This record gives sequence, structure tokens and C-alpha cells, in this order.
Amino acid sequence: MNIQWYPGHMTKARRMMQENIKLIDVIIELVDARVPMSSRNPDIDQMGQNKSRLILLNKADLADERKNRQWSEWFQEKGFYTAVVDSRNRGSLKAVNGIIREACQEKLERDKRKGIKNRPIRAMVAGIPNVGKSTFINSFAGKACARTGNQPGVTKGKQWIRLNKNVELLDTPGILWPKFDDPQVGCRLAMIGAVKDELVNIDELSLELIKYLVEAYPGVLSGRYQVDETGSPGQTLEKIAEIRKCLQKGGELDCGKAAVLLMDEFRSGKLGRITLE
Ligand code: G4P
Repeated sequence: MNIQWYPGHMTKARRMMQENIKLIDVIIELVDARVPMSSRNPDIDQMGQNKSRLILLNKADLADERKNRQWSEWFQEKGFYTAVVDSRNRGSLKAVNGIIREACQEKLERDKRKGIKNRPIRAMVAGIPNVGKSTFINSFAGKACARTGNQPGVTKGKQWIRLNKNVELLDTPGILWPKFDDPQVGCRLAMIGAVKDELVNIDELSLELIKYLVEAYPGVLSGRYQVDETGSPGQTLEKIAEIRKCLQKGGELDCGKAAVLLMDEFRSGKLGRITLE
């Protein structure tokens, strides 16, 4: 599936992020745990050189637990700090503060040697659209967030959210764009709903999903829709249409409707916790 999607404001967002990176110690990069590679833009590695990096595998509640652990280890081997989280659930974010401090240990020690005391760690959140950046900031900052800086009409600075006495978070996240060079990336992002559905062919997408599920998660489709998984993806989709009574006006099967239903149920986690890569 070939998706071309380069919003015009991309360059501006990139420039702004480059500016903001200069102000911070640590980048909290959010990825979608169901597609931890496809939901990244590797440009951040270059942009964030010399900054500590914490990769949050977000929406982990929708992803395969075993794969979450594997991906987390994989990123750690690459030198990143990681946490597996569900940003809608504050409880799952408890460990994040500690990991931020750990990721900035060197800076804290440097400060100490220079006699600088209590300078807070400054962090920013970054990621492609829809990975949960705003949700994370809201949950992580919670009610206690006191906004500092940028008094309207006084200074034209940045807004920082004071999380505690040690950490300040830039309140606007850095926006990255996915890299669609590999057609598989576009397909996987479309599957999780991170690409506008108007830009993709849902019928085709649902067939790709069926193919993947039969191979990687056998039993999921037969369990939910009582379909035989040995048929072609097209036959399986027809069967889903039949079982879920997706019908056109004349009573004929409506596979388009079944495709939408399947994608919705997958995206909302009704098919279980599934990782796509
Ligand atoms: P963004 O700033 O990176 O663009 O993402 P945003 O926070 O707007 O989140 C995008 C969608 O992902 C939201 O759903 C949000 O609720 C959901 N989300 C964020 N983090 C998690 C998570 O850890 N787990 C799950 N399951 N979902 C998460 P939405 O459908 O756009 O809105 P709504 O359903 O919350 O109203």
C-alpha cells in the first residue's frame, strides 16, 4: 500500500523541535507499542544527539505483552531507557519519573561537580501524531501541574510544566512525521488508525490484517468470528460479513462494511492484544 502524506507544516514543526531540543536534557519519545518501529521517525536519533532518551512504548495495553518485553529489551540494547505504559492510566506512569532521573544521572553529577544545586531536569515529549503525546502529558503532569514561564505579554518564552522539584516538562510536544519510504510502514500505521481512513483502502487493509493475523496470531479470527482460517483472506472477510450480518440493501453480503467492522474491532483491542511488528 502506497501512502503519500507529507503535510506542509512538517518543515516548521521540525524547525521548532530543533529549537526546543537545545533547551532540554532528555527527550521522552513516544512510540506505539503495536508498531514500535513504524511509529518512529529515526531522524530523532540525529536531532537528539547528546541528549538522553527515554522511549515510552505507549498503548502497551493494546499490544502483545511478550512483544512489549522483547521490544523494550531491544531498545535498551541500543542504549535507550525504556518504559512500557498505558498513558490513559496514571498508575502505569509511576516508574517514569525515576527513569527520567536515571537517564539524566550524568547531567546531575556534572551539575554537582560544578556546584550547581537543584537545577531541574528539563524534558520534552516527542513522537508522530496519534501516539498519545497529549494523553501522556496530561496524565503525567496530572492536576498538580504548575505552569511556569511565558507570562502573557511579559516574556515570549516557553511554557514549562513543573512536575516536581526535579523535573520540568515542555508543555508542547515535538511532532515528528512517520517515514513512509517502506510501504509496509504506511500499511501498519493505517492498520492502527494513525493514517486518515480517507487516504487508505480499507478493504485492502482488512485483507492484509487477516493475512497477518492468521499467520502471527492463529485462532484469533476463528475465536471471535467463528470463521475457518484456512480460506483465502477474501473468503474469511466474506464469512465475517455473513456472521456479523453485514448486508447490502438487496440482502447481499457487504464486505466493505465487514472490513470497517474488523478494523474497528482490531483498533479498539476487541481482538485481543496484538503487535504488528
Ligand atoms: P497525540 O497527542 O500524540 O496526537 O495523541 P493523543 O494523546 O491525542 O492520543 C491519540 C489517541 O490515543 C486518543 O484516542 C487517546 O485516548 C489514545 N491513547 C493515548 N494513549 C493511549 C494508551 O496508552 N492506550 C490506549 N488504549 N489509548 C491511548 P482517541 O480515540 O483520539 O480519543 P478518545 O478515544 O480518547 O476520546
